[in-house]
Amino acid sequence: MELIRPNNRYLDSYIEASNEYDLYSLNVEVLFDSPETVIQKSIDYENGVNMKPGYVRATTFWLIDNHEFIGEINIRHELNDNLLRYGGHIGYGIRSSMRNKGYGTKMLQMALVYCKETLKINRVLVTCDENNICSRRVIEKNSGILENIIINYTERGIVKTRRYWIDL
Ligand SMILES: CC(C)(COP(=O)(O)OP(=O)(O)OC[C@H]1O[C@@H](n2cnc3c(N)ncnc32)[C@H](O)[C@@H]1OP(=O)(O)O)[C@@H](O)C(=O)NCCC(=O)NCCS
Repeated sequence: MELIRPNNRYLDSYIEASNEYDLYSLNVEVLFDSPETVIQKSIDYENGVNMKPGYVRATTFWLIDNHEFIGEINIRHELNDNLLRYGGHIGYGIRSSMRNKGYGTKMLQMALVYCKETLKINRVLVTCDENNICSRRVIEKNSGILENIIINYTERGIVKTRRYWIDL
């Protein structure tokens, strides 16, 4: 199992994952980026170019196991006011067919090593919706300490956000 940067070699597998039907369910954030732009966008964001206004530099990794794309994790290099309320340092998703097998927990654990060793972040903020039980478990299994639960007004409507800190 490894984290790699988005790579043409696994693009077919990424497309397969994007097509797994429940990814576009109502009221769920779209999980994966467009396959046409995901690789270039990840290079740009890592280098801090062509970013949307108000966005910060970020590194994207794909979790690969048995030559298959399993999930994606996006690590913001710093926090801004928006990320402090919603989003935090890290966002992630596991393809639907591979959930509940421990991959989400492992992927976050591997990303935390990158935060500590490469980005030199010693306190990581991870947030999730109040009702996202799987993500709560993933964060708590990685020693997340709940600071508070706040209300956010998002494109998906009003959500309750759990804000966790992980000391590295
Ligand atoms: C959140 C997500 C990444 C978790 O990935 P995963 O690979 O399924 O996570 P894991 O298998 O490591 O852990 C899942 C945990 O949720 C628990 N879980 C799953 N369904 C559950 C349910 N209905 N009730 C209670 N716990 C549940 C599992 O038991 C497991 O916890 P455990 O190890 O204590 O038993 C994945 O569900 C996903 O991609 N969701 C959509 C995107 C998303 O929500 N991203 C996070 C945004 S903050």
